[in-house]
Amino acid sequence: MNEILIRGRVLTFLAEPQGIDDAASYRYIEDGAVYVRDGKIVEVGSYGDIRKLADAGIRIADHRPNLILPGFIDTHLHFPQTQAIASYGAQLLEWLNTYIFVEEQKFARAAHAAEVADRFMDELLSNGTTTAVAYCSVHPESVDAYFTAAEARGMCLIGGKVMMDRNAPDALRDTPQRGYDETKRLIAKWHGRGRAHYAISPRFAITSTPEQMEMSGALVTEHPDCYVQTHLSENRDEIAFATSLYPEAKDYTDIYARYGLLNSRTLLGHCIHMSEREVTVLAETGAVGVFCPTSNLFLGSGLFNAAQFDKRGARWSVATDVGAGTSFSMLETMDEAYKVLHLQGQRLTPFNSFYRMTRGNALALGLEKQIGSLQAGADADIVVLDSSAKSAMEFRMRTATSLAEELFILQTMGDDRNIREVYVAGKPMKAKDAKQQATVSQRSEAALFA
Ligand code: GUN
Ligand code: ZN
Repeated sequence: MNEILIRGRVLTFLAEPQGIDDAASYRYIEDGAVYVRDGKIVEVGSYGDIRKLADAGIRIADHRPNLILPGFIDTHLHFPQTQAIASYGAQLLEWLNTYIFVEEQKFARAAHAAEVADRFMDELLSNGTTTAVAYCSVHPESVDAYFTAAEARGMCLIGGKVMMDRNAPDALRDTPQRGYDETKRLIAKWHGRGRAHYAISPRFAITSTPEQMEMSGALVTEHPDCYVQTHLSENRDEIAFATSLYPEAKDYTDIYARYGLLNSRTLLGHCIHMSEREVTVLAETGAVGVFCPTSNLFLGSGLFNAAQFDKRGARWSVATDVGAGTSFSMLETMDEAYKVLHLQGQRLTPFNSFYRMTRGNALALGLEKQIGSLQAGADADIVVLDSSAKSAMEFRMRTATSLAEELFILQTMGDDRNIREVYVAGKPMKAKDAKQQATVSQRSEAALFA
């Protein structure tokens, strides 16, 4: 039996926060503890109560005065684009052709895919992200590399081979039949193995023929427990091109609807320029719009309208979208999300940001029992946040008087330097920080916001 008691200021969400100070939406325990056994959370509560439950000799990871939250969840990014972040100057279609379709060709080499997959997982973890949903390249070897690297770390990851059979270089194109066969084989190999989940991944309507879309729909019907991921309404030129390729469709969303690709396990990257009709279709099908603020600003794509989704009862999640996204950090992502919504007169409260990165994204994936919350029975994927890790933050934190303010400072000024530790299924993953951890446990035990 492998047990650990993780002590610190525990914060977890129970529901979506309504307003700036919705105390009923979260549970905060100033001197709290998470009791973990064999990778699962046994109990969460005050340190005093939890200490009594555990064996006298249990290992204690004392993270006071740091915050303990569920590990962050990133619902959309591209693992083969890890080395293509910060590619200059172009909007979506030019950016794909100039940089991305060149970069992704390197993943025909299994050794390259394995090297990048390792770096990718390490970047996720060093940013406090314990679950991600990623596109791999068209090469099945890239999917093997991705899930192998995740499995080695015990991570709950979702991903799949991109399918593309037109409007891409020869070296990146499959065919409808090959895309189907390779996806079938990869689902059989990886879906449900350990913590892995497969996502059926036609890249977007522009790079798939109607025949490939039809076969993607068949895959969705044959594997209803797999996820589906694609891109929708990111950029005006993209929308015009996509709809010109499918003249019978009512609009871009209708292309995917016609091929049976929209359901409650579908993740649609971007959804920026959406009509009311399209958002209503997402609400009706349960498909999730994925808000990727750093990407949308970097590519000049536009501003995601969260209020439009909320008004229609459509679901949305948040994500980095590396490599159009400019950071692996969900903290930096929510900083940009705040600004994108602010520009449209909308407010994203600090509690709502942290809800979105954790329980909100878990709900979007239908994995809320396993991840995204610190609750008995959940997987022990946990992040430890040090709000004073940077000198400017430490100075700013001296004037903070509430938890909401601390969270807003973390999201506005924070990055990977604030990730003190990250646990995957109860296992600490930042070994290089072991010495720092010892120092933390000796720090002041004074309550921050007593
Ligand atoms: N649309 C189709 N492929 C991509 C991609 O790789 N990144 C982004 N941002 N949009 C896409
Ligand atoms: Zn994407």
